Amino acid sequence: MQVKTFDEYQQVYRKSVEEPEAFWAEIAENFKWRKKWDKVLEWNFTEPKVEWFKGAKLNITENCLDRHLENNADTPAIIWEPNDPSENHRILTYKQLHDKVCQFANVLKNNGAKKGDRICIYMPMVPELAIAVLACARLGAVHSVVFGGFSAQSIADRIKDAECNIVITADGAERGNKNVPLKSVIDDALVQCPSIKRVIVLTRSHTPVSMIKGRDVWWEDEVKKVETQGNPDCPAEEMDTEDMLFILYTSGSTGKPKGVVHTCGGYMVYAGYTFANAFQYQPGEVYFCTADIGWITGHSYIAYGPLTQGATVVMFEGIPTYPDAGRFWDIVDKFKVNIFYTAPTAIRSLMSFGDDILKGKDLSSLTKLGSVGEPLNEEAWHWFNDKIGKGKCPIVDTWWQTETGGFMISPIANVTPLKPGYASLPLPGVQTVLVDENGKEIEGNGVSGNLCIKFPWPGILRTTYGDHERCRQTYFATYENMYFTGDGVLRDEDGYYRITGRVDDVLNVSGHRIGTAEVENALNMHSSVVESAVVGYPHDIKGQGVYAFVVSPDKHGNEDITRKDIIMTVSRIIGPIAKPDKIQFVSGLPKTRSGKIMRRILRKIAEGDTSNLGDTSTLLDPGVVEEIKAGAL
Ligand code: PRX
Repeated sequence: MQVKTFDEYQQVYRKSVEEPEAFWAEIAENFKWRKKWDKVLEWNFTEPKVEWFKGAKLNITENCLDRHLENNADTPAIIWEPNDPSENHRILTYKQLHDKVCQFANVLKNNGAKKGDRICIYMPMVPELAIAVLACARLGAVHSVVFGGFSAQSIADRIKDAECNIVITADGAERGNKNVPLKSVIDDALVQCPSIKRVIVLTRSHTPVSMIKGRDVWWEDEVKKVETQGNPDCPAEEMDTEDMLFILYTSGSTGKPKGVVHTCGGYMVYAGYTFANAFQYQPGEVYFCTADIGWITGHSYIAYGPLTQGATVVMFEGIPTYPDAGRFWDIVDKFKVNIFYTAPTAIRSLMSFGDDILKGKDLSSLTKLGSVGEPLNEEAWHWFNDKIGKGKCPIVDTWWQTETGGFMISPIANVTPLKPGYASLPLPGVQTVLVDENGKEIEGNGVSGNLCIKFPWPGILRTTYGDHERCRQTYFATYENMYFTGDGVLRDEDGYYRITGRVDDVLNVSGHRIGTAEVENALNMHSSVVESAVVGYPHDIKGQGVYAFVVSPDKHGNEDITRKDIIMTVSRIIGPIAKPDKIQFVSGLPKTRSGKIMRRILRKIAEGDTSNLGDTSTLLDPGVVEEIKAGAL
């Protein structure tokens, strides 16, 4: 599955475009199927309907676990580093992980879970989170993991949308010196969720929790029951290749987050293949991905991708700055990490602590570096390259999305010549196109446009849960016969791709996707907010910050307190990750005569670039712009 030279990459890429079915069939042969496919691909982007490896049967956990037992049972699958460095780390070999997944799958069965059920997972970054995810997949239950930074309301929205019947959580999560009371947040969410019949609670932080009779059970008690039943194995459920594997909610430019759906066969092939190829993973290498399993990066590149390849994955519970900003490097040294995959926001944050933090850290085990989530600016690229990689580790800048399931545009380590700031070239099987606003393809090099993909790849989303029309509208209706990514891109003279950021109303804050409409809805719920508009602005560490313009005539006489109340409201409705960095009170928003907010103007003001605001003559009240400019933060 790995190409070894740049020439080979070019040949393989050509083949993948000319004969995509033959190309992907050959890749898929590297996986374990209960039954092979009758047809490699059937698709159209109008409905849309995409089916890969049609007729095939499999269970992804047999690929992640069982197939490694014969030769690699004792290879570490997960090396887990706790938040508190004085607590012991844990290592789970493939055999141990297999056994724990089977055991917990039996727990789920005892608690009524079956194929096709939707199960919400809201957990800290402990091995049991990976175990819970894989146990769902073992049974054919569909997991919907919700990141620990989301609020009760966000969880409730997601549980209701997917009609989940079980929640798996923990008493609390430890992140740095903060404790997040996960179970208590779940309790608040479940007030609105009658579909939930069972809550399974792992003990982690020993935070006091309220256990509701008949609904809530302890993870540890349930495991004991399975042990006394003496049935350690749990045969994997046979899944159709297009059966749902998981739902993962993500923000868009309108409305509530949508549940992106990935299915079993195609997703498995794509996550496994891209991991093996882009990182050129070799047996025995230790790979550390700093993401949380609550995001797609954790799904594809902590759990499924690496485990299908029998890799050793370091999983970290804490944050990069606890107990100090050298924590990542301590972990690299402690476990002799070879491949280190992180986000630009983390790199920029750690850079800001200066180089002293690196003194005495042995980073000599590192051979490959990776980045994901937002553009890796040149300054951060060079720091990562010089100070962490010591100039000898390729930086794999992977561009992809929740919807793509895996890497799309990315260098292949030690194969693709690198350019700082560029995600470089599409991986084999990925047919990128640039289009202008009218949907016309922009050919040639040295051009910019909107990034689309014109042919399916196995990891493409299949639908948005419960609302296929929304999937069509969002991704397949903007340009005919193309998947629209929502990103702008530059293709330089060498054909190299540089992602320039979202072209829709989606912000990317510390690598997290946040819809401006979602934040506005939350702001507008505060009793003294009449109206609001949210835009992004450049932020040194986070990439983008959240700037809110708020119309609030009645501030109870205290702007600062009202500002804090408003922030608290956003935190309650969405979660702390969506909190505005800046709130500017304004008497009105710049609107056209038809009532449309002119965000272009607000964006410029937020960016501090007020020299040329463009044509404001169509505004209902041009005077409002002067006032907003004068009060800009
Ligand atoms: O704007 C792109 C940015 O993150 C968006 C996808 O966000 P999400 O679905 O949350 O997935 C993040 C992890 C895959 C994209 O539309 N993005 C992601 N990776 C990069 C990037 N922007 C620039 N360079 C990247 N490497």
